[in-house]
Amino acid sequence: MTHPNRRQFTQAGAAGVLTALSARRVLGANSRIRLGFIGVGNRGDQVLDAFIPHKDAEIVALCDLYQPYLDFAAKKAGGSPKLTKNYHDVLAMKDVDAVVICTPDHWHALQTIHACQAGKDVYVEKPLSLWVEEGRLMVEAARKAERVTQVGLMRRSSAFCRDACEFVRKGGIGHVTVARAFHIQNEFPKGIGNPPNEEEPKDWSWDQWCGPAPKVPYNRNRGFYRFRWFYDYSGGQLTNFGVHYLDLIQWALGQDAPLAVTAIGGKYALDDNREVPDTLEVLWQYPGNTLATFSQYNCTAAPAGLRGDAVEFRGTKGTVYIEGNGWEVVPDALTDKDFPARRPTERALERDYRAGAKPVIEARKEKGKVDTADHARNFLDCIVSRKACNADVEIGHRETTAALIGNIALKTKSYLEWDGKTEKFTNNAAANKLLRYDYRAPYHLPT
Ligand SMILES: NC(=O)c1ccc[n+]([C@@H]2O[C@H](COP(=O)([O-])OP(=O)(O)OC[C@H]3O[C@@H](n4cnc5c(N)ncnc54)[C@H](O)[C@@H]3O)[C@@H](O)[C@H]2O)c1
Repeated sequence: MTHPNRRQFTQAGAAGVLTALSARRVLGANSRIRLGFIGVGNRGDQVLDAFIPHKDAEIVALCDLYQPYLDFAAKKAGGSPKLTKNYHDVLAMKDVDAVVICTPDHWHALQTIHACQAGKDVYVEKPLSLWVEEGRLMVEAARKAERVTQVGLMRRSSAFCRDACEFVRKGGIGHVTVARAFHIQNEFPKGIGNPPNEEEPKDWSWDQWCGPAPKVPYNRNRGFYRFRWFYDYSGGQLTNFGVHYLDLIQWALGQDAPLAVTAIGGKYALDDNREVPDTLEVLWQYPGNTLATFSQYNCTAAPAGLRGDAVEFRGTKGTVYIEGNGWEVVPDALTDKDFPARRPTERALERDYRAGAKPVIEARKEKGKVDTADHARNFLDCIVSRKACNADVEIGHRETTAALIGNIALKTKSYLEWDGKTEKFTNNAAANKLLRYDYRAPYHLPT
């Protein structure tokens, strides 16, 4: 079998690349695909909603650490799914074809690799991994076991995002010199608060939650949903929201790795017990002379005029905004004249310079939707066809890596040069040590 390399994914798109894969259990047009869910909290519940309408899928197993979530999900899923708190029970079930993993980020690598080894196809939430080397091992495990994979970057299954990215990639706004993304959400003054450490909960296992991460005293902010503010389980908003935006940026630029990254930020205004910054700027240099930025402002309102939820592509001929419900092209007016040297007595010069400037591209506004149900549909179709999904694990790894190395730049206070082929920094040995971490015994990454 030949494995698709990253350039094939970037240039040809993922579709069709894995057609040579042989399915161990070839599903016919009329068979139902039997799914096991691992993690049915906030996102697991949303993804359950996305799979339930597809009548060719059946939910036969549910796994979570917290019994009330299991009961809630079982009622929603219908039928009589097996309920368990140990994901290995799901992987051992012969009648599970594929698993859907919606656990916190620090569990994604182990559960995905174990699922591939157990012969299950895998839908796993973004960010793909907590550490860069984990992501590469996940890709290798999926390829070795010939598994179909879908990472929860659901914009990849949205027609309007595809159109917008293609428009930008084909030069619709000229040379894109800057791509910008934002996460703006004012959490001042309390943020997530500052609760004390407590006794471990009695009704769910804190030890199982920590899994491969360090076993630290229980604090309720490290648990359900709020784990995303702690580095043991998450890369913060840069990997939480940022990965979705970097996905659009890399897709639209036709790139799968930056050349360099740097970051500045910190806890500037919040006094809660989060570890990740409340204020952050990350900058990436991409091949083809494009600067990409992610601005995370968690202690400000959105500056006037800024579309806080949009990813902006600023080109030499105009700007493209991709938002949650559509995309827009805003042309700029261009002139052939040289930029004037302005003198105090000649203020009219600039006005003359602008006079006669004309747009060279058309304004455009398109509506659309991003729906995880479409992403689930694509996964189910690929389980049958054995083609690569819209957000195959290699794509998920590339987008997640771009975000993760931003955090390494922040932690090392560095300007880091990145080699996307070797997946190493070329100018900072200390930063390379942060591409992986040691799992807490007895957990270990399979080799
Ligand atoms: N694609 C998206 O737009 C999107 C949106 C939200 C969250 N997410 C991702 O989904 C993941 C989960 O986030 P969330 O907001 O649902 O968190 P959450 O805390 O609400 O849910 C996580 C669930 O995983 C369970 N869990 C933890 N360890 C487990 C284990 N070892 N085995 C089985 N279950 C385990 C927990 O009990 C909990 O119910 C994160 O990686 C997050 O980034 C993606």
